Amino acid sequence: MTQEELFKKLVAHCKEYGFIFPSSEIYDGLGAVYDYGQNGVELKNNIKRYWWDSMVKLHENIVGIDAAIFMHPKTWEASGHVAAFNDPLIDNKDSKKRYRADVLIEEWIAKQDEKIDKEVEKARKRFGESFDEAQYRSTSPRVLETAAKRDAVHKRYADAMNANDLAELRQIIIDCEIACPISGTRNWTDVRQFNLMFSTQMGSTAEGASTIYLRPETAQGIFVNYLNVQKTARMKLPFGIAQIGKAFRNEIVARQFIFRMREFEQMEMQFFVQPGTEMEWWNRWKEIRMAWHRALGFGDNNYRFHDHEKLAHYANAATDIEYNFPFGFKEVEGIHSRTDFDLSRHQQYSGKKIQYFDPERGESYVPYVVETSIGVDRMFLQIMSAAYTEEKLDGGEERVVLRIPAQLAPTKVAVMPLVKKDGLPDVAQKIIDMLKYDYNVAYDEKDSIGKRYRRQDAIGTPFCVTVDHQTLEDNTVTVRHRDTMAQERVSIDALPAMVDSEVSFRKLFQKLGL
Ligand code: GAP
Repeated sequence: MTQEELFKKLVAHCKEYGFIFPSSEIYDGLGAVYDYGQNGVELKNNIKRYWWDSMVKLHENIVGIDAAIFMHPKTWEASGHVAAFNDPLIDNKDSKKRYRADVLIEEWIAKQDEKIDKEVEKARKRFGESFDEAQYRSTSPRVLETAAKRDAVHKRYADAMNANDLAELRQIIIDCEIACPISGTRNWTDVRQFNLMFSTQMGSTAEGASTIYLRPETAQGIFVNYLNVQKTARMKLPFGIAQIGKAFRNEIVARQFIFRMREFEQMEMQFFVQPGTEMEWWNRWKEIRMAWHRALGFGDNNYRFHDHEKLAHYANAATDIEYNFPFGFKEVEGIHSRTDFDLSRHQQYSGKKIQYFDPERGESYVPYVVETSIGVDRMFLQIMSAAYTEEKLDGGEERVVLRIPAQLAPTKVAVMPLVKKDGLPDVAQKIIDMLKYDYNVAYDEKDSIGKRYRRQDAIGTPFCVTVDHQTLEDNTVTVRHRDTMAQERVSIDALPAMVDSEVSFRKLFQKLGL
């Protein structure tokens, strides 16, 4: 199965098992907007809890807020989003399809890497055991030629993005002979800038109404509340403010399911530091955030850092944490050193002094900011991509299992009476009553036990508990584990401790070393 086929199956699975539905589907959906179903919302809430507690509970110097989506319109002038939150767009004149010029070029660059990898794989087959990959990569004329072409385009692209040179972006597309995937032609328009913010009107009359924006990042809600929080919580630098909330972007190229959405949710933390210490903190937060991802156990090699080619208007350093999705390594989270840009601009635009009095230095200054910013939905997709597994079982059977870390699984325990009679459903209900105050528990009495196991595997339930006739005699049940499919006989009294040992966040948090 190709990675593309696998991804299609994952999308279908998300719908079939109540994780994600297209928004307003009965009206044929709305582009790049999705709804979370009964299992999706549970997974999403657990992701948020993992993030929130790791920030706010595990760091004494981080507190949380929940700011409004609507903000004073000046916010977005001050932040630079009105002037600079743009994507470079290009249209194909034949298909009339619109593309992001930067994405077309980045995809071309990625294709050169794929070409090189294919060359290497061919050579590996040719040379067999004696193959020296490093030597081949550094000496093969074909590999060197492709790499040189790639590097030259890469440099032109980075320079053009940094200089905002739209004509040069178009020229790169022409020079690389990039064709529209729909029409197959290279009949391109000029490249234009397109602002990504959604706007609406606030106020009851047309004359009195003012244009406001749906926030494109949650961070600004934190910046405008910097003084409120610093004063009321008596925070001393360095300290952080965390927030989870919706953000909106009129994405032009909205693809790959929930990877790029128009309405999505962010988990952002702004860490305020003394000027001059920001690089130290930027490096520290890179480590902390990478550890948070890797603690989920999806394989350390599936994550990597990718430094930004083009820094956003507010940043002096920026990196992404990328995950190896079925469609390649892609950004899940950004870690940005935002300097004092935002607070200084809000100070300038509001006319209010936004400074910190540093008792150690005996002076006031505008703090610098290191930000960690991750999309809830993108994290959701990362977990689903990593967890979705198709397995062949003994006897020719197959199963789909979601190997979601137990702490994040939507349902922790499914309780099943072997038959719907002889008092077994009552015992099952008692077990549910014992567990339901602490965990999400499901009851399932329909179909064979095997089918019930498959249903729970498909939504990632770590434990299935079967009540049978022996339970009535000795108060024991069969516990079946999702990943190993191993079964064991356990006393009902021992269930809470057993479940807790796997689903409690404690172990996950301990891995973070905070
Ligand atoms: N405050 C900084 C900021 O917003 P960003 O790199 O534009 O930085 C941060 O976004 C994270 O938000 C991304 O790493 C991604 O996980 C998520 N994100 C951004 N745009 C998104 C979209 N259109 N759909 C889903 N998630 C998105």
